[in-house]
Amino acid sequence: MKKLMNLALPIMCIGASFANADAIENRIDVLLETMTIDQKVGQLALRDFGTYSAEQLPELKAQIRRGEVGGFLNVSFSSVDDNAFAELQKIAVEESPQGIPLIFGQDVIHGYETIFPIPLGQAASWNPELVKKGARIAAKEATTDGIRWTFAPMIDISHDPRWGRIAETLGEDPYLASVLGVAMTMGFQTDDPTRPDAMAASAKHFIGYGAAEAGRDYNAAYIPEARLRDIFLPPFKAAVDAGLMTIMSSYNTLNDIPATANKHALKTILRDEWGFDGFVVSDWNAVMEMLPHGFARDAKHAAELSANAGIDFEMYTDTYQKFLPELIEEGKFTEAKLDQAVRHMLRIKMRLGLWDNPYPRGNRDTVILSDEHRQAAREAARESFVLLKNDNSVLPLNKEAKIALVGPLANVPHEQLGTWIYNGDKKDSVSLVPALEQYLGGNESFTFVKGLEYSRDTSTQNFNKAVEAAQQADVIVYVGGEESILSGEGHSRADIALPGAQQELVKALSETGKPLVTVIMAGRPIELGPVLDQSDAIMMAWHPGTMAGPALVDVLYGDYSPVGRLPITWPKGEGQIPIYYNRMATGRPATEDNYTLIGDIEQGVFQHAPGNSSNHLDYGHEPEFPFGFGLTYSDVDYSNLVIPSSRVALGETIRASATVKNTGKVQTTEVVQLYIRDLVGTRTRPIRELKGFQRVTLAPGESQAIHFELPTEALAFHNQNMEKVTEPGDFELWIAKDAASGLKGRFTVYE
Ligand code: GLC
Repeated sequence: MKKLMNLALPIMCIGASFANADAIENRIDVLLETMTIDQKVGQLALRDFGTYSAEQLPELKAQIRRGEVGGFLNVSFSSVDDNAFAELQKIAVEESPQGIPLIFGQDVIHGYETIFPIPLGQAASWNPELVKKGARIAAKEATTDGIRWTFAPMIDISHDPRWGRIAETLGEDPYLASVLGVAMTMGFQTDDPTRPDAMAASAKHFIGYGAAEAGRDYNAAYIPEARLRDIFLPPFKAAVDAGLMTIMSSYNTLNDIPATANKHALKTILRDEWGFDGFVVSDWNAVMEMLPHGFARDAKHAAELSANAGIDFEMYTDTYQKFLPELIEEGKFTEAKLDQAVRHMLRIKMRLGLWDNPYPRGNRDTVILSDEHRQAAREAARESFVLLKNDNSVLPLNKEAKIALVGPLANVPHEQLGTWIYNGDKKDSVSLVPALEQYLGGNESFTFVKGLEYSRDTSTQNFNKAVEAAQQADVIVYVGGEESILSGEGHSRADIALPGAQQELVKALSETGKPLVTVIMAGRPIELGPVLDQSDAIMMAWHPGTMAGPALVDVLYGDYSPVGRLPITWPKGEGQIPIYYNRMATGRPATEDNYTLIGDIEQGVFQHAPGNSSNHLDYGHEPEFPFGFGLTYSDVDYSNLVIPSSRVALGETIRASATVKNTGKVQTTEVVQLYIRDLVGTRTRPIRELKGFQRVTLAPGESQAIHFELPTEALAFHNQNMEKVTEPGDFELWIAKDAASGLKGRFTVYE
C-alpha cells in the first residue's frame, strides 16, 4: 500500500482549521478517499485496554500501526506506566497510514480522582451550576491523564429504585434530568471541545434502560411510543440540542427490539428527526448480547444488525472488524454506510482537536485532588443531602453535645464514594470520624461504635456496646445504608430496606430514649419501615464522595443548612414501585377519604366498605416522601400566587409568580418549583408535571417574589398521532416546594 504519510502530513499540520465545520467535512472527504475498507473498519473498533495482557500488547500495537483501532477505553493511568497514552497515540499518529489519532474514553461518571456525590445525589441539589462545575473538574482531572471522552452523563429516566443503576441517574423527571444532563454535558465539553481539558460527553443509555422490567438490570423495557417521547427521550434531545458529541446505546430491548439494533431509535429519531451528527457507541458487549437476546443468529448477524441500525463505534467486541468487509461484499452492508459511520467518528475526533493536540497531558500534582477540587466536592456533597425529618429540631447538633456515633457506614472511606469510581481511591476519601475529630478538636465529645461491621452484617454481638455508648450520650447519630456495591450496574435489589441487622440496631438505639439522628448513605431511596418513627431526624446523604465527612459535619452542626430536594419519589416500600409524582389520575383517583387503610377495616364488612380507588390497603396511595421534597433548618412560607392573565393564546406565554418568605432564624436556599396539570387531553395527562424551578437564597425574614414564564409550547405532549402539540383547554398550576403541595391556580390556553 502506498505510504500515505505525505498525505497524512498536510492533514495533520492543518489541524487548527478543523474547528471550522466545512474544513472538517472536507478533510474527512480527503481521508475517506485514501482509506481502505479495512482502515475504515478499524476506525470503528473501540478496544478495552484493560482486557489486554502484556503479552498481547505487541499485536495490539501492530493493529494500531495498521490503522485498525479507533480508540481505547480504560487505559487508566494506574494500569500502565506514564507513557501508555503517548506510546499508543504516537503509533497511531506517526506510524499508521492516515495518522488518525486514537480517542481515549472512560467512565468518568461523578468525578475522576476527586469523587463527587453519585449523580442521583447531585440531582438532589437541583443546582445546574454545581453539577456543571463537578463535571468540569472531572474533565480537568481526567484529561490530565489523556482521557478526552467520558461515558457520561447517564440520563436514563427510571421509576424503579430496585434498579441498581438508579444511582447513576439524574432522577425520575424528564425536565430536571434535561436541565442537569445539559449542565453535566457542558461541564465535560465546554463550548470549545478543542480545549485540551475538554472531554466529549456520551449521553447514555439510548434508550429505555431505566424501564428494565422489575428493576432487574439489562431486562426488557416496554414503553409506548408517546411515553417514550414525552418521558424517556427529552433529556437526550436536550443534550443533543446543546451540542452533545456522542451517545451510547443500551443493553435492553425496547419493545422487544434490542436498543443496539433499534433503527427506529438510532436512525429515525436520533438522526432523521433530531439531526444528531456525532457518533454512537455500543455499550460494552451489547452487540454480541443480541445472541442471548435471541435477536442475532451469530456474531456476523449481530454485526449486520448493529451496523445497519446505526451503531458507529463497537465497544469491546470485534464483530465489525471480522465481518463488515464480508457483509459489504455480500451486499448486507454498504461502503456508503461504512463511510457515514467513519465520518461520524472522524468528525468528533476533529471537533476534539485531537490532530492539534493528540498528547494532552496535564500536571497531575497541581490538578488532581487539588484543594479547590476537594472544596468543590465538599460543596456538592453538602448540597446533595436531603433532610427528610427533623422533629423537635434535633438538628443541627449542638457543638457541646456528647455524641454517640454509631453505624457501619460512619467511617468507611471506600463505601462513601459510591458506584462507578474507576479512579477514586479510599486513601483520598475523608469519612465522618476524622472530620468530626478535626471539627470538635479531638474525640472527647463523641464516641464511635460501629455496632455492625458492614451494611449487610447480621450479627448483633456488638449492639450492647453501641447501646452503652448511646446511653452515655446526649444525641445518637446513626450512619447506615448500603455499601457502594449494593448499587450500580448489575446490583438491583428486590428488597430495598436497610440491609443486614440495621433495622434492629436502629430499634435498639431508639429504645434508649435518646434523640436519634439517622443518616443514610445509599444509591437508592431506602424502605424506612419502623426507622421512620424511631428516628427523630433522617437525612439522605446518598453516596457523597471523597469529602463526605467534612460535608456531613458542615450540615449536621448547622454551618450549612441542608438544601437538597428529592429528585426521585421515595416509596414506603418496594410494594409501591413504580410510584412517581407525574402519574396519571386514573378513573378512581385515591384521596384521603375514599378508601380505608388495612388497619382500620372492621371485621366482616361488606366487600366495598374499604372503598374502591387506586391505592394499596396497606401502604395507601402516597409515597413516603414526594418528588421535590426536602426540609431545611429554616422554613419558607409561600403566598400571593399571581397569574396576571388567566387566559393565554396558543403561542403566547403563561406568567405566574408567588412570594416566598424565610420565616426561620437561619439563611436558607429554597427550590421553588413550578408544576402544571393539563386537565383534559387527547391522551390522559399526568396529575402534575414539573415545568420549571428556581433556587433562591433567603436571609432570615427575607421575602422575594419568584416569577415564572412558561411558553405554551412547554405544555406540549405527543398525541395519538405522535404529533407534539399543546392542546387548548384548562390547566392547573402550582408554585410549590414539592410535588405534593403548593399554591394552586388555573389558566386557560385558547386558539
Ligand atoms: C458498562 C455500562 C456503561 C459503561 C460501559 C463501559 O457495562 O453499561 O454504562 O459506560 O460498560 O464501562
